[in-house]
Amino acid sequence: MRNRNTKIQQELAAITGESHVLTNDDLTAAYLKERRGRFDSETMCVVLPASVEEVSEIVRLCRKRNQPIVPQGGNTGVCGGAVSNAESVIVNLQRLNRIRSVDQTGYTMEVESGCILADLQFAAIDNDLYLPLSLGAEGSCQIGGNLSTNAGGVNVLRYGNTRDLVLGLEVVLPDGNVWNGLNSLRKNNTGYDLKNIFIGAEGTLGIITAAVLKLFPRPVNRSTVMIAIESVPDALELFSRTRKETSDFASSFELMSRVCVESAFRHIPECSDFFPGRVYPWYVLLELGDSTDGGISQQLNERFLERAFEDGIILDAVLAQNENQSMQMWRLREAIVECQNYEGKSIKNDVSVPLSNIAEFIDRTISSAESMIPGVRSFAYGHIGDGNIHFNLSQPENMDGDAFFDQWYAVTDEVHEIADSLGGSFSAEHGIGLLKTRDMTRYKSTVELDIMKSIKSALDPDNIMNPGKVLPSGLCD
Ligand code: MLT
Ligand code: ZN
Repeated sequence: MRNRNTKIQQELAAITGESHVLTNDDLTAAYLKERRGRFDSETMCVVLPASVEEVSEIVRLCRKRNQPIVPQGGNTGVCGGAVSNAESVIVNLQRLNRIRSVDQTGYTMEVESGCILADLQFAAIDNDLYLPLSLGAEGSCQIGGNLSTNAGGVNVLRYGNTRDLVLGLEVVLPDGNVWNGLNSLRKNNTGYDLKNIFIGAEGTLGIITAAVLKLFPRPVNRSTVMIAIESVPDALELFSRTRKETSDFASSFELMSRVCVESAFRHIPECSDFFPGRVYPWYVLLELGDSTDGGISQQLNERFLERAFEDGIILDAVLAQNENQSMQMWRLREAIVECQNYEGKSIKNDVSVPLSNIAEFIDRTISSAESMIPGVRSFAYGHIGDGNIHFNLSQPENMDGDAFFDQWYAVTDEVHEIADSLGGSFSAEHGIGLLKTRDMTRYKSTVELDIMKSIKSALDPDNIMNPGKVLPSGLCD
């Protein structure tokens, strides 16, 4: 085995240059970190190609050697999709980081997979355009990873999911061939939509090396507001009114429970209460944006808030008066992920249910979780406008962390059962990775699994591309 590994490492080095094949533990460590501390990751080596041609040669070689590959971007995923074992080669795309072109007339940009998401957002702004994909990890995640996981984020409400932002793709297939599907047309109705097979496939069907993304007018006028409300049904009523009364100008509608914001105040120094001295059970962070000359978002927001207040839908609201205040509001929302790290271990759920069932979902899951694990603290928050709730549970103060983690599947099974019974999904935006393959067997029909298996075995008959991810093991062996 050792000789085999050394030989493959040498062959990889012949493709990328020796310095781009990492074997030393100190150098590989950064690629083996797993954000949630849920899985251990190892690797035979990490290879860093710099071009699509190099990716293609690497995959061709691995196919010949029957060598498993784990494609990897910024390694910020939360379901273990980029976790590797000691026999696998990690192919990290960080050196494919060119913005190939920006088309100001067509509102598109062609980018390579290893570009950091925040860099692409800035590049769009430099061209007076807007890339709406936005999520907590945007300073380190790579666009290839975003596309491979179909990551969601905070602007899905107005601009659609990640897959809706993609016009074309370039993909290295599991046999090393390159599919150039770098379409930039809005209309191209010519048979199967191949790009959507690869988006959300988490590297199990090939390696995305480049993409053509849709851009939008830059919402130069943004109006952000922090709203206090009494209950989840009130949040939903507010959401429905927001859509109607602001003519669908809202780009984000985020819900946070008091437990969440209190934890942020406790642990993240730059987070402070927008309603000092007043305690409310639920909060909504709403943002409207437009690119008109006079800027209508602020006016729309003010009028709409006044009416909601008069009608008793909202308890209190603070409208950001400047960019800095808007950023502080977003900092609070983003801190909710971070502050849970200070609350001990946490069991995470990322589900969606039809909007009309959100309140019931939250009530039922809180009471189930608290009866299964007495003393557990429920963090309910998320992109409620998309029906997407992050229902996370923090370790009880008097319980050992490992004993708490032993409850992971019992609790998440219950949460997923409740979501399913309400017409929901066990994974709204984080994908499947390693974490949720067992749910694929539970909730996907045989017909769906058979279609997925057929696609997988047609493209990757030797199962070398990210084996064990997305599809339950046994299905592709
Ligand atoms: C969020 O919306 O904050 C994230 O999707 C949650 C997470 O990364 O766990
Ligand atoms: Zn989220």
